[in-house]
Amino acid sequence: MILYFGFTHCPDVCPDELEKMSRVIKKIDTLEDVGADVEPIFITVDPHRDNPKVVREYIKEFHPRFRGLTGTEDEISKIAKKYRIYISKGDVSPNDEEDYLVDHSIFFFLMDPNNKFLDFFGRNLDADEIAKKIIDHVRRWKKDKDSGRI
Ligand code: NI
Repeated sequence: MILYFGFTHCPDVCPDELEKMSRVIKKIDTLEDVGADVEPIFITVDPHRDNPKVVREYIKEFHPRFRGLTGTEDEISKIAKKYRIYISKGDVSPNDEEDYLVDHSIFFFLMDPNNKFLDFFGRNLDADEIAKKIIDHVRRWKKDKDSGRI
């Protein structure tokens, strides 16, 4: 799993990062032994506006393999805490209470099939660098599994 926390109204950072991840997915999907086993997941940090339909419509624009998740405010704050993701809702516009920004940490997390943390990737890495790291992790994990180390 590759997890990313963001929100659909994000003006520039989330679109850039999700665009980058979509290039990563395209790259790893060319490798038969890696691509199919990696699932990219987007989790909203703004469950108030990002209902399942909004999230689904948004995320499929980046790559059809992306899955989007939302939940209650409580569920989202719990999972964000687990991954040490910072979420801070900004000031609401005086004219429109649905108009606000959400400040959030920007990371991709790579998790193994047992939900164990493998790696994280920040904004400093480009699509080629992330793809290479994911490919190495997946191959190493499979090798370890085949040899009984996992
Ligand atoms: Ni964002």
